[in-house]
Amino acid sequence: MIRIQNIRKVYQRGDSEVHALRGVTCEVAENSFNFVVGPSGSGKSSLLYLIGALDQPTSGDVQIHDRSLSQFSNKQRDEFRRNQIGFVFQSFNLLRNLTALDNVLVPYMPVGISSELRRRAQELLDRVGLKDRMTHRPNHLSGGEQQRVAIARALLKQPQMVLADEPTGELDSATGAEVFGYLRDLHAEQSTTVIVVTHDERYIRDTDRVIALRDGKLAV
Ligand SMILES: Nc1ncnc2c1ncn2[C@@H]1O[C@H](COP(=O)(O)OP(=O)(O)OP(=O)(O)O)[C@@H](O)[C@H]1O
Ligand SMILES: [Mg+2]
Repeated sequence: MIRIQNIRKVYQRGDSEVHALRGVTCEVAENSFNFVVGPSGSGKSSLLYLIGALDQPTSGDVQIHDRSLSQFSNKQRDEFRRNQIGFVFQSFNLLRNLTALDNVLVPYMPVGISSELRRRAQELLDRVGLKDRMTHRPNHLSGGEQQRVAIARALLKQPQMVLADEPTGELDSATGAEVFGYLRDLHAEQSTTVIVVTHDERYIRDTDRVIALRDGKLAV
C-alpha cells in the first residue's frame, strides 16, 4: 500500500510561492493500475515526482509499505528510486547514439551488464513488439516504438512501481492506445503497481482507479 498523507508542495518562483499541492491524502493499492488526471497546472506531475522520490514535499509524507520516504536518508532515497521505481516520461528520454537494446540496458551500464540481464532486456523488447528493432537507434524508430523502448527500460529492473507522466502526450491516439495496451499487459504479467498521469480520459476504463486533481487538491 502507498499512503499519501496530507502532502503539500510549495515551489518558490522568484519572490512568489506556487502552491502546487495543497494537502492531498489518498491511498494506492499494491499491484493496482491508477490514473492521475486533472487540468494543466493542477499538480499531477508534482504528485508523481513526490511518490517517486524525485522531489520532497514541503510537508506531509508518502509511505510505501509502512516506510516513510521522509525518514529516508539521501542515499536510501536514491536507492529506492533506482531500484524500485520505473519512470516513463512524455519525451521518452532515450540516448540518441545508443541502440534500442542499449537504451534499455543503460541504467545498468555503470555496474556492468551480465548476459542474463541482456537476455531479459531482449525478452522485454520482444514482448513490446520490437524484436526486429533492437539494433536501431531512436531516430530510426517511431514515437510509439521509442516509448515502448522506454517502457522496457523502466521494467528491466522489475520495479515495485511504474510511474508514467503523460506517456502518450507526444503520440497520436492509435499509437497512444497501443502504448497503454503494453503498459496494461505488462502490469498484469509482472504485478507492478502503475500510476499514469494523463490528460486524455479516453484511455481510462471504468474499473481503473482515478485520482482527480484540481488546484492542487483532490477533486470531489
Ligand atoms: N519547479 C517548479 N518551480 C516552480 N513552479 C513549479 C515547478 N514545477 C511545477 N510548478 C508549478 O506548480 C503547479 C503544478 O505543476 P505540475 O507540473 O504539477 O502540474 P501538472 O498538473 O502536471 O500540469 P501539466 O498538465 O501542464 O503537466 C503549476 O502552477 C506549475 O507552474
Ligand atoms: Mg505535468
